[in-house]
Amino acid sequence: MREDSCRRRFHFLVFLSVAFFLGASSRGHCSDEAIPGFNRDIRPLLAKHCFACHGPDAAKRKADLRLDDREVAVSAGAIKPGHAEDSEIWRRLTSTDQEEIMPPPGKGDPMPKEGMEKVRQWIESGAGYERHWAFLPPRDPKIPDVAAPGFLVRSPVDSLVLDSLIQKGLAPASGGAGSPLCSVVSSRVGPPR
Ligand code: HEC
Repeated sequence: MREDSCRRRFHFLVFLSVAFFLGASSRGHCSDEAIPGFNRDIRPLLAKHCFACHGPDAAKRKADLRLDDREVAVSAGAIKPGHAEDSEIWRRLTSTDQEEIMPPPGKGDPMPKEGMEKVRQWIESGAGYERHWAFLPPRDPKIPDVAAPGFLVRSPVDSLVLDSLIQKGLAPASGGAGSPLCSVVSSRVGPPR
């Protein structure tokens, strides 16, 4: 009796780990194509390369420019939401003039090209700021509305797992003969002999 409930608990834990693994890897996959998010992509870049002189610390602030405050950054013309090419930060990031390029040569860690590209995409997408994640209330993940023949969706976790399977091409999105499990097995090991 005791052993049995232990085993059940173990199975449940394995199931949870698989569900989390699928969830995490599918999110990773999506983020490649998604618009850069402020907290996830942009804040760390600005913090590393710009905030030493354009951040919250008024005593160290240069040119009266704050890049951690959208209103200040926009009204100074540093950021023109939707128009990276007209934004002063884009001009300064990509400048080849040693007098203009930011961070100033020898005074900060230069931003890598991929970082600049993220900043460009973020400005083009409207340069949305978010409060620091520590101050944001936790949000439940969006539960996808998915179905597949033979896959019984009984809980939000089932929906998340099925959605990951569909995105990985491991379960039929609609139609198809047989249960998804059969198609997964046959696509992996071939049809039963
Ligand atoms: C070590 C300090 C330092 C760092 C780090 C730094 N800056 Fe600057 N920044 C300055 C100084 C000093 C000026 C004023 C001189 C000038 O305009 O070149 C300035 C000016 C600017 C201006 C023009 C402001 C205006 O109103 O004319 C922009 C835009 C700017 N920086 C963006 C950035 C960005 C983006 C980063 C990060 C990639 C960055 N800076 C990192 C020191 C810094």
